[in-house]
Amino acid sequence: MALSSEIIQEFNRAFKKARVSGEAEPTAMVLATSDGKGLVTSRTVLLKALDEDGFVFFTNTESGKGRQLQQCPRAAATFLWKASGCQVQLVGPVSQVSDEAADAYFSTRDRGSQVGAWASDQSRPLASREALMQRVAEVESRYDGIEVPRPPHWTGFVLSPESVEFWTQREFRLHDRFLYTLHAGQWKKQRLNP
Ligand SMILES: Cc1cc2nc3c(=O)[nH]c(=O)nc-3n(C[C@H](O)[C@H](O)[C@H](O)COP(=O)(O)O)c2cc1C
Repeated sequence: MALSSEIIQEFNRAFKKARVSGEAEPTAMVLATSDGKGLVTSRTVLLKALDEDGFVFFTNTESGKGRQLQQCPRAAATFLWKASGCQVQLVGPVSQVSDEAADAYFSTRDRGSQVGAWASDQSRPLASREALMQRVAEVESRYDGIEVPRPPHWTGFVLSPESVEFWTQREFRLHDRFLYTLHAGQWKKQRLNP
């Protein structure tokens, strides 16, 4: 179900405030995934796009999070914007972006990152730094003088929230919290106790 334009505007407003307040990595969000059997893990990823379908990040489908997203295609994500005193939380289903969208974003990455996406078996054990650099050299020679194609195991995912909460820091811990939730295709907005 699509995000409302009100939520997108609210997010963009808070994001801009974070950026002008000097937040070092305003696109960074902590993404929590699960194996669907009770194991929950989290890590930071970068937000690369936002539209009415949701929040897009890119990763390796064979990584820990990639494998969990196959087992349980739902996630939660939290942006912490300390400099502007804001937090945004998302919860909802996750799906893969189209191959075309993944190709389009991959082609904008610098060549080093494109090579790295092939060289790194993300989240698998690695014998040594040298072994990784050896793999980088192999990939570089494989694609010498030609474009690096997108690896089949590297793509984008879109988190399409069913709930979005905006938290703003206020005096005496009497913070503002606004929760948007999706019910039968309609977004509802509620104020929550801090
Ligand atoms: C600031 C920051 C941004 C990151 N951005 C990404 C990202 O966009 N995609 C990604 O796969 N990993 C990113 N990482 C690395 C992940 O946090 C994580 O180490 C990696 O994806 C493997 O996680 P997993 O084993 O849980 O799948 C980032 C790490 C940091 C600290």
